[in-house]
Amino acid sequence: MATHRLGIIMNGVTGRMGLNQHLIRSIVAIRDQGGAALPNGDRVMPDPILVGRNAERVAALAREHGIARSTTDLTTALANPDDTLFFDAATTQMRADLLTQAIETGKNIYCEKPVSDTLAKAVALAKLAKAHGIKHGVVQDKLFLPGLRKLRMLRDSGFFGRMFAVRGEFGYWVFEGDWGQPAQRPSWNYKKAEGGGIILDMLCHWRYVLDHCFAPVKAVSCLGATHIPTRVDESGKTYTNDVDDAAYATFQLEGGIVAHMNSSWAVRVRRDDLVTFQADGTHGSAVAGLTRCFTQHRVNTPRPVWNPDVPQTMNFYEQWEEVPDNISYENGFKIQWEDFIRHIYAGTPWKHDLVEGAKGVQLAELGLKSWAERRWLDVPPLDI
Ligand SMILES: NC(=O)c1ccc[n+]([C@@H]2O[C@H](COP(=O)([O-])OP(=O)(O)OC[C@H]3O[C@@H](n4cnc5c(N)ncnc54)[C@H](O)[C@@H]3O)[C@@H](O)[C@H]2O)c1
Repeated sequence: MATHRLGIIMNGVTGRMGLNQHLIRSIVAIRDQGGAALPNGDRVMPDPILVGRNAERVAALAREHGIARSTTDLTTALANPDDTLFFDAATTQMRADLLTQAIETGKNIYCEKPVSDTLAKAVALAKLAKAHGIKHGVVQDKLFLPGLRKLRMLRDSGFFGRMFAVRGEFGYWVFEGDWGQPAQRPSWNYKKAEGGGIILDMLCHWRYVLDHCFAPVKAVSCLGATHIPTRVDESGKTYTNDVDDAAYATFQLEGGIVAHMNSSWAVRVRRDDLVTFQADGTHGSAVAGLTRCFTQHRVNTPRPVWNPDVPQTMNFYEQWEEVPDNISYENGFKIQWEDFIRHIYAGTPWKHDLVEGAKGVQLAELGLKSWAERRWLDVPPLDI
């Protein structure tokens, strides 16, 4: 059994996602376990070089996590033929140019979503990757959430009968930053010029979640809103939120399923989890959160009585049965990294590519257009 070295140029690892999910929970964890296992028993050991703007900061981060290499010079890093994979989790706005540069130097690429801030750029990237024959991947982490994996298992087992409706609630209160509680999202999320907006951020996710856990998305109607127009940034400066901080979107899926997703950074949580999906079918319903999933079969469906004169006697939450944890669920970002590494080395099947990434940007762009034009829009197949 051999161990192969995978040189990865990691950009954006000082950010929220880059640091926590990709560096610590994925790459450092894979190194600590002795690499990613290939089907033939060989192992692949990631050997990252961390790229950042601040030399001291990125070097300290590398030291802290037992990583030997760091740099501020991305162009020189990309010129090293021994590092064959470029990873990007920096801001959305800069991604397309960075990925283009990496693909043109022949690197395989893996990146956060959205792959770009416009569909035209996303399609160009996917075409460029295909033309260069490189391996490419985009983070689709929600597919690896235990809650959604359980829900997909229910669908595949026939639990729902004919599924006809999906309703999703995503969101939590993001503090404004001006009354003693710092905002827990970066200020660029609220600036159009910096790639912000919840529609661009979340409809990318809902595209692959709907396509793969329920049914392919055929049409969208989306209403965006700016509920909190003024916010305070990381340096204490007041700024104008010029993007949507909530999106109320309805989708038509293949097979006549109606899906509605509320996404908001201005909502206070009273539900099972920060995101929940309820699917209703002729034979049963299910509600999935990040980790847990509850079902109600047709034969267990109670008969509530509508009577405004009497306080509700039923505890509706108690009428659902939990799907058990029959398997262990690892961090979804790490699972996806290991799958991608196997795809690079062993050619194992991989569906989370730049074409999939472009589909996410397509739905976000159509959502924004639907809002601007106040109308339903079909989601056409992408010509890539
Ligand atoms: N998969 C998910 O669930 C998920 C969740 C949140 C964010 N994201 C995506 O991850 C990406 C990063 O989001 P985040 O929330 O971690 O943001 P963040 O602001 O915490 O991090 C941004 C990173 O980009 C770097 N950066 C910013 N401006 C730069 C510049 N001019 N030059 C070089 N580097 C620069 C920062 O140093 C930092 O490392 C975004 O594309 C976002 O859409 C994905």
